[in-house]
Amino acid sequence: MNLITLPVVDSTNSHALRLLDQGLATEGTVVMAWEQTSGRGQRGSSWSSQPGLGLYFSLILTPPAGILPQVAVLIKALTLGITGYILSRTGLQPCIKWPNDILIGERKICGILMESVIKGESLSTIVVGIGINLNHKSFPEDFIRPAVSMHQFTRENYNPEEEVAIVVKSVMLAYRGFLAKSEEDVELKYNTLLYGKDMNCNFLLNGEGIQAVFLGVNSKGEAVIELDGKIQHFPHPFLRLSKRC
Ligand code: BTN
Repeated sequence: MNLITLPVVDSTNSHALRLLDQGLATEGTVVMAWEQTSGRGQRGSSWSSQPGLGLYFSLILTPPAGILPQVAVLIKALTLGITGYILSRTGLQPCIKWPNDILIGERKICGILMESVIKGESLSTIVVGIGINLNHKSFPEDFIRPAVSMHQFTRENYNPEEEVAIVVKSVMLAYRGFLAKSEEDVELKYNTLLYGKDMNCNFLLNGEGIQAVFLGVNSKGEAVIELDGKIQHFPHPFLRLSKRC
């Protein structure tokens, strides 16, 4: 692993993208920071990144040409690599909230921000940005979504520089497993860990609140739901999962 450790950066994803632009990063390069001043979350949100509390890093992957049709399964495999890491470090089995939040119970412990670089028709690089709540003792009351840290369960203190090596190993193992064509295993395991699976859940469909049974996530990464007696599938963020009922 080519690990670049920075005391502080705007965002490890932005830094990784800059390195790629300058031709200074290859597959397996990891950019980790103790602190981010402009940590980025999904859909333009921010990711609170105070020093020593969380693990903030970005992993650069250059999957083989022609991977684009399977990219949703690739992302599922990477997500499973992270759930495996959390299980191994806490003894707790996390679940995956579609499309790629990782929760313990109802509270978020990890967020993932994938940014793809597409050249022509093919996907050339993926920057996998991962934020894991390690050492928080509490979270502000006004946090948008309920959050939790590994410390809150285990009472241990985690060193981000040691944790990054362990989580990257787990994610790379999952990535190589996927490349070696264990797609079926990925689908099965991902759906087993899916938050709200086979339950009645609240969704926002094009901004409108609905209730539907959440049947799973297909190989395109779309949610499959049973709505009004019909099985339908929708991509994110056209459909958004709020909560299981
Ligand atoms: C989410 O909104 O759930 C995604 C959060 C992703 C945060 C991580 S922290 C490391 C990397 N750098 C960023 O700026 N964001 C991701």
